[in-house]
Amino acid sequence: MPIQTTVSVLPQAPADSALLAVPYDSGLDPQVELPVPVAALLAHYEAKGEAGEIVEIPVTRGDAVGRVLLYGVGDGSPRALRKAAATLTRRAKGKPSLTVVLPSCDAAVFAEAALLAAYTFKIGAQGTTPVGALTLVGADEEAVRRGETVAQAVALARDLTNTPSSTKTPAWLADQATGTDLEVKIWEEEELRADGFGGILAVGQGSVHPPRLIQLSYAPEGADRHIVLVGKGITFDSGGLSLKPTDNMKTQKTDMAGGAVVIAVMGALAALGSRVRVTGLVAAAENMPSGTAQRPSDVITHYGGTTVEVTNTDAEGRLVLADALAYADAVLDPDAMVDVATLTGAISVALGRNIGAVYSSDDELADALIAAGAETDDRLWRMPLIDDYRPALDSPIADMQNADLGGRYGAGSITAALFLREFTGKRPWAHLDIAGVGRSTVDEGTVTKGATGFGVRVLIEWLTRS
Ligand code: BES
Ligand code: MN
Ligand code: ZN
Repeated sequence: MPIQTTVSVLPQAPADSALLAVPYDSGLDPQVELPVPVAALLAHYEAKGEAGEIVEIPVTRGDAVGRVLLYGVGDGSPRALRKAAATLTRRAKGKPSLTVVLPSCDAAVFAEAALLAAYTFKIGAQGTTPVGALTLVGADEEAVRRGETVAQAVALARDLTNTPSSTKTPAWLADQATGTDLEVKIWEEEELRADGFGGILAVGQGSVHPPRLIQLSYAPEGADRHIVLVGKGITFDSGGLSLKPTDNMKTQKTDMAGGAVVIAVMGALAALGSRVRVTGLVAAAENMPSGTAQRPSDVITHYGGTTVEVTNTDAEGRLVLADALAYADAVLDPDAMVDVATLTGAISVALGRNIGAVYSSDDELADALIAAGAETDDRLWRMPLIDDYRPALDSPIADMQNADLGGRYGAGSITAALFLREFTGKRPWAHLDIAGVGRSTVDEGTVTKGATGFGVRVLIEWLTRS
């Protein structure tokens, strides 16, 4: 479900707001008579003004009791503002409305974070509902709408990713892309075969739900750059015949998080006025074991002719991405390609659950993505493409193998990135490994338990602000 909380902007707080939030040091009259002066209240509660801190004061509202929330904004940085905004919405959970007097800040950042904290995903009986309406006082309307658009794009990525795999077959995912206003092209099984997408077909061949390649096109007039985004769209990753253990398998409905990011970003470009031409590709397949599944030791032929010995059917993400990257390089002639994928468990060992990985063959592209990530709080850390580890992918019988047999080289996230690089030609390319950050185990700040939508904000920033 999209975020249900509505947002509006007012020049002044209505005198009857039952729930009114005011920053500590705004110097603004909270338009209520507080029982004790603000400064004395804050001193009494030993409030430090940190982002996320709230001092709650009951006030008279006609015959009823209302509340004023005095909130801290820390150092006023976008990061601190996001935390303050998210904490306020969470505090207002279940209430019909919340009025917030904004500090001087980018209202887009504030609105985006406040809305993201109101995201919920439930099938069936509803638990607590988020705050119904949010009124931002003294905010720039256009900035608020931008923040709202970005938050709804993140929510869409989360929704697609949280949807159970029994619903989200590759064909269903293709239908969701068709639901955007963009031009969409879908390759069904026969078309994939005719065009030689051997990786996508091999990964999908064990499932009763056949694979799809989904292409979305955004081409504004006068665009001077063409970017291709590629998303991993494994609608469920059981591991295939190289079956995952129970504990590792139970989170794998989120293995199409990269594809969800691509669909969500593409859907927001027009509303945000992006002037870059962008083509999105989602390589969608379900990785299942069965009598028709690919076997460890099979050799497959990718789009463009590269042969790969499949030494581990659980290293399937790179197989579907390889086809899409090779196709983009050969046919779409982009200025740069960026893929987004929950590719390796190893990256959460390296970077944990809060920072995403970026690999790139191009310093300028890496720097631009890292800067956009810092700006939007989809934080990225650059990882190295270590050539010494390339022999991990040498096969005795094919051009490559998809997994390092025996794990002689370790570095599972790096060797996966090295595999992808082989399919990017000479194009500037970046790879975001979001396996660590794609889902959250906690409800905290702008993130809710389950899918995070990581990647949407950084890519939107990169595609609309440069
Ligand atoms: N989808 C997984 C990666 C993953 C793991 C995502 C945990 C989210 C949470 C991927 O397809 C995978 O299975 N990777 C293997 C590669 C190995 C077999 C070379 C891995 O990381 O163990
Ligand atoms: Mn896998
Ligand atoms: Zn996977």
